[in-house]
Amino acid sequence: MIVTGTRPEIIKMAPIIRALQKRSIPFTFVYCGQHYDYVMSQKFIHELQLPNPHCLYKVQTASPSIQIGRIMCFLERTIKRYRPKMVLVEGDTNSVLASAVAALKQNIPVGHVEAGLRSFDLRMPEEHNRRLVDHISTLLFAPTKHAKNNLRRENVWGKIYVTGNTVIDAVNQHMPLAIRKSRIMEKIRYNPFALVTAHRAENVDDLNTLKNLIEAYMESPVPIVYPMHPRTRKRLLQNGLWNKLVDCENVTILPPLGYFDFLVLMKKCVFIITDSGGIQEEATSPLVRKPVLVTRLSTERPEAVKAGFAKVVGTKKEDIISAANELLNNRKDLPTFSPFGDGKAAERIVSILENSFYA
Ligand code: UD1
Ligand code: UDP
Repeated sequence: MIVTGTRPEIIKMAPIIRALQKRSIPFTFVYCGQHYDYVMSQKFIHELQLPNPHCLYKVQTASPSIQIGRIMCFLERTIKRYRPKMVLVEGDTNSVLASAVAALKQNIPVGHVEAGLRSFDLRMPEEHNRRLVDHISTLLFAPTKHAKNNLRRENVWGKIYVTGNTVIDAVNQHMPLAIRKSRIMEKIRYNPFALVTAHRAENVDDLNTLKNLIEAYMESPVPIVYPMHPRTRKRLLQNGLWNKLVDCENVTILPPLGYFDFLVLMKKCVFIITDSGGIQEEATSPLVRKPVLVTRLSTERPEAVKAGFAKVVGTKKEDIISAANELLNNRKDLPTFSPFGDGKAAERIVSILENSFYA
């Protein structure tokens, strides 16, 4: 049973779903609706031509405990109905924690894709989720050796495999089609431009940090293209900051984009400013190869920093702007390989599943 609940989970599970289909391995596809707007959920299922989920739910709430509780109840019903051999989850969202606990309580083994990431920052809800899920998983698919070492240090009980991250597979599988199909560049009035995203709770739910971020975008030395996450849009509206950003000539705000449009923007921008996890990884794909300023205090993807793609710049306006200037003035050649794998992670994961359950 493949469980997804948010935009990045659909994108990162897509290559696994395709690998299962290719080998005719039966699976149940579940979407538990932590993300519920069409542009944050179903749009990706359609665009990436994934099968319709066998089970759909819309949890739709802001309280983490209610969200996790409701998803657990939904998953319990779904697991009882389908009796899967394993529940496969990806990443570190509340959907992932809830699904893994529900599976454990039904004595169904859990497989964790993207296991072993650690920011060591307990302000992040994602750090709670990933730590807990790793300790109740039977199969742990670590994207890198670094992630495997994190798991080893914590003495997790499950079996660890280093597979690469399926997001690199996803970029490889979708970029050619994205370049052919996307019309997004017709909407971009700047050349060059920097691509921005921000949605982390510890950033956008903190008014001071939010203000620092938007001022940095407004004063950026390169104009900004910003497809905005609904969480951030709500915070800007609540705090009377929305008009300030919309009226700024240096910033173009877009709605959350489909994957093809977003891939094209990553390819065409000069650099990326983000607090996203997945985007830090995608920027290292040989098909993207872009520098990333990580607007956070820590990263659970140090591999991107070590390889020279990413720099953790914090959330202060001056630091973000000075890092952007430095990038423009000192352009460096970036590696032609990704530290997150060779694009065959999904095939490896499915081979391991096949050997575990069908050998
Ligand atoms: C969640 C994940 C985060 C992941 C991100 C991917 C957790 C704790 N967080 O953050 O790890 O990086 O998804 O984007 O699981 N909202 C909408 N429409 C939607 C979805 C969200 O309006 O379709 C708004 C709602 O006000 C909601 C808020 O965004 O309350 C937060 O949504 P939630 O799913 O709780 O967390 P994200 O910030 O999306
Ligand atoms: N993404 C997208 N459209 C957007 C913004 C992001 O398709 O407007 C994709 C992006 O390419 C990456 C994933 O969504 O694959 C990252 O999602 P997000 O940043 O919301 O979550 P995180 O990776 O931080 O958990």
